[in-house]
Amino acid sequence: MTASFTIRPARTSDVAEIRRLVKPLADKRVLLEKEAVAYFESIQEFKIAEASNGEVIGCGALHVMWEDIAEVRTLATSSEWRGHGVGRTLLDALLAEAVSLGVNRVFCLTFEVDFFTRHGFEVMADQSAVDPEVYSELLRSHDEGVAEFLDLARVKPNTLGNTRMIRAL
Ligand SMILES: CC(C)(COP(=O)(O)OP(=O)(O)OC[C@H]1O[C@@H](n2cnc3c(N)ncnc32)[C@H](O)[C@@H]1OP(=O)(O)O)[C@@H](O)C(=O)NCCC(=O)NCCS
Repeated sequence: MTASFTIRPARTSDVAEIRRLVKPLADKRVLLEKEAVAYFESIQEFKIAEASNGEVIGCGALHVMWEDIAEVRTLATSSEWRGHGVGRTLLDALLAEAVSLGVNRVFCLTFEVDFFTRHGFEVMADQSAVDPEVYSELLRSHDEGVAEFLDLARVKPNTLGNTRMIRAL
């Protein structure tokens, strides 16, 4: 295996590969599995790590939630490529995207606490990362990830055992 790979914006034709990366992690309840249509609808949020032979070896998405806050979601490296800097490079690209969008805080919900800690994220001491007015606006969202961010009771089964982390940019 060559350790060379590139990061690029996702294309619609990557959805099948994104789902292939997510499936084993969703089976272990590490990531949330979504319908194909949800990936097509959010494809512009995704970045892809591609090996020099064209294989999709990782993915990650940045979902904007409010003026100053976004979530890193669906960050995944194929099991064969773990520990080669794919996750770190994808995360850097997503954080750069956050900066260019004007977002200054990035949230993630994860079991990979050590990985995110090494990349500047902190465990959220205070659950209320947004003020009450923004909280009530965010309650209007239909997005499951926003519900997880707000720690709503209906998504507790998704968030069980995960750690809520945040990083200032
Ligand atoms: C989190 C995750 C994406 C990390 O992916 P990864 O590609 O293995 O990440 P990296 O290789 O960048 O980093 C992992 C470790 O590998 C080692 N590493 C990094 N670059 C390396 C390189 N070039 N050569 C050798 N080892 C390297 C480091 O020890 C690194 O630790 P660090 O956190 O101190 O940088 C991956 O573990 C995963 O898919 N987890 C399941 C999904 C998940 O929980 N996602 C997060 C919630 S959205």
